[in-house]
Amino acid sequence: MIIGIGLDIVELHRIRRLDDRSSKFRERILTERELAEYAGLSDRRKVEFLAGRFAAKEAFAKANGTGIGEMCSFADIEIQKDEKGKPSIYFRQQEIGFVSITHTKEYAAAQVVLQS
Ligand SMILES: CC(C)(COP(=O)(O)OP(=O)(O)OC[C@H]1O[C@@H](n2cnc3c(N)ncnc32)[C@H](O)[C@@H]1OP(=O)(O)O)[C@@H](O)C(=O)NCCC(=O)NCCS
Repeated sequence: MIIGIGLDIVELHRIRRLDDRSSKFRERILTERELAEYAGLSDRRKVEFLAGRFAAKEAFAKANGTGIGEMCSFADIEIQKDEKGKPSIYFRQQEIGFVSITHTKEYAAAQVVLQS
């Protein structure tokens, strides 16, 4: 049974500005594993990757009904990809629901569906 849906869209220029300012923003948004993946990407892909994960985590927080806060931090949520590139979403190391991420030159967006 579907128990939640969440959708989010972010502007890449906003994410780029925050990421250029210091490493603090990405360190708040990404897990250790995601930070390692980020480090291996080109500059253009870094922004897409970070923006896509930001959108996916906000979409999860909406699907979950909690928003980002005490009950759910960005670090509690992780996106992992399989060998074909398909993303999966984990909350506190538990795979949970379904996620889809997209980006254009200007935006990244993500959708999350949670199932019981
Ligand atoms: C829920 C949350 C993710 C919404 O994100 P947002 O960027 O503020 O706003 P969006 O435009 O993407 O979404 C707004 C919609 O989210 C929905 N929403 C708000 N709280 C929600 C909740 N607890 N559960 C599900 N959906 C929620 C509402 O429908 C709202 O639209 P409405 O006010 O017109 O009804 C937000 O409350 C949150 O937790 N943001 C994290 C903030 C943060 O730490 N940012 C880091 C910057 S460094």
